[in-house]
Amino acid sequence: MRAHEAGALHGEGYRGPTWLQTPVDVNALVPSLWAGSVNRGSDGVLAVGGMSVTELAQDFGTPAYIIDEDDFRSRARDFKETYAEVFDGLSGGADVFYAGKAFLCTEVARWVHDEGLHLDVCTGGELAVARRAGVPGERIGLHGNNKSVAEIRDALDYGVSRIVIDSFDEIERVAAVATELGVVAPVLIRVTVGVEAHTHEFIATAHEDQKFGLSLSGGHAFEAARRILDKPESLRLLGLHSHIGSQIFDTAGFEVSARRIIGLHTRIARDLGVELPELDLGGGFGIAYTTEHDPLPPKHLAAGMAEIIERECRAEQVAVPRISVEPGRAIAGPTTFTLYEVGTVKPVDLDGGAQRVYVSVDGGMSDNVRTALYDANYSCTLAGRASTADPVLARVVGRHCESGDIIVKDEFLPADVGAGDLIAVPGTGAYCRSLSSQYNHTPRPPVVAVRDGVARTIVRRETIDDLLALDV
Ligand SMILES: Cc1ncc(COP(=O)(O)O)c(C=O)c1O
Repeated sequence: MRAHEAGALHGEGYRGPTWLQTPVDVNALVPSLWAGSVNRGSDGVLAVGGMSVTELAQDFGTPAYIIDEDDFRSRARDFKETYAEVFDGLSGGADVFYAGKAFLCTEVARWVHDEGLHLDVCTGGELAVARRAGVPGERIGLHGNNKSVAEIRDALDYGVSRIVIDSFDEIERVAAVATELGVVAPVLIRVTVGVEAHTHEFIATAHEDQKFGLSLSGGHAFEAARRILDKPESLRLLGLHSHIGSQIFDTAGFEVSARRIIGLHTRIARDLGVELPELDLGGGFGIAYTTEHDPLPPKHLAAGMAEIIERECRAEQVAVPRISVEPGRAIAGPTTFTLYEVGTVKPVDLDGGAQRVYVSVDGGMSDNVRTALYDANYSCTLAGRASTADPVLARVVGRHCESGDIIVKDEFLPADVGAGDLIAVPGTGAYCRSLSSQYNHTPRPPVVAVRDGVARTIVRRETIDDLLALDV
């Protein structure tokens, strides 16, 4: 249970959370929070990919998700090249599957494919996007804890390279569809390893009280392997899969999960006589949303993971399987900021004499629900101009009928922020558009890609007609 947002924060002389420093220069950008091409021009206006935010607001309206295409492509490429290089001598390279749940549209699926990554989809809808983008089946993996027969059929029909099995029911379901289509389905087993990692902490638990995967400690994952290997006419077991959490900043959690999953991999080799060729270590690599976060570059993560995998495989005397990973947030998150226009500004007195300025913008929890859903922290900046005013503690809120409709809980903005100003919130490329809603019948913002001074809509803004189109 969580206390009401405002309640817990009322306190004497409240100046925001401890990680939030009063800025020396309220116009300065923290580079780790922004896409590579974002800068504040000499006119004080934020620019991305050679376009100013005032031009973007004029041409595309607000709110809008603004994505730096080169930044997305270079993060994707960096993951692909780094993992291939680091695992080259160990397991003949590694495959990177972009986790489409972070953010997917046809154009982004094309970028992912162009850059040589594979794509992880977890519904028939995401698969349809991948197909429209022309991503071939052999570059696609299908996830999900309750895939329908229709989704499995579509995936096998399209020739996906792997289906990640999440339950005993699914073994039978995938086998039945494969038999019907006359194919052998390549599958992985999603294993619950009893490790949960979030930010800098991880917990290793004995029981795994959540919906995903087949339990390692309960013997379900091993039993799943036995059942799959029993159906060679319809299923081909490629390997094991484990995903341990999100916003992970170090390899401590991987250390425990790798030991456990390689233990299972070895037991399958010993007791069932099959050394599985692949192992997927999932996603969950962290990004910086505020100055409190300090993510590791992919190179360090990959090197740490390689060292752990090599050590564990050597200890178990098994060959290193081909590794794959599934980053979503770490590729998409930092590439995008959301551009809003301020509608109203309201100072609110806090207990103890402090004051907070509530800045209402033209979007809200319908375009970024992470603050309300996960208590996530974001930062933001005045985007359409620089200011010489003193910084004041502000909270950026939306226009929805919820007091929890908060986008940025705590940030310093210049005291002269007012109606008509543009505000940019960085780090909104992952789990914002993909988790967006039409709450209060609010049309969802467009996604605008910027590159080399050219901006183009890659997902158009919804209209009131779109909203009404489904009403019968
Ligand atoms: C199986 C699996 N792989 C990959 C991801 C992507 O995680 P992230 O976007 O944190 O990298 C998720 C996220 O939920 C997941 O469940």
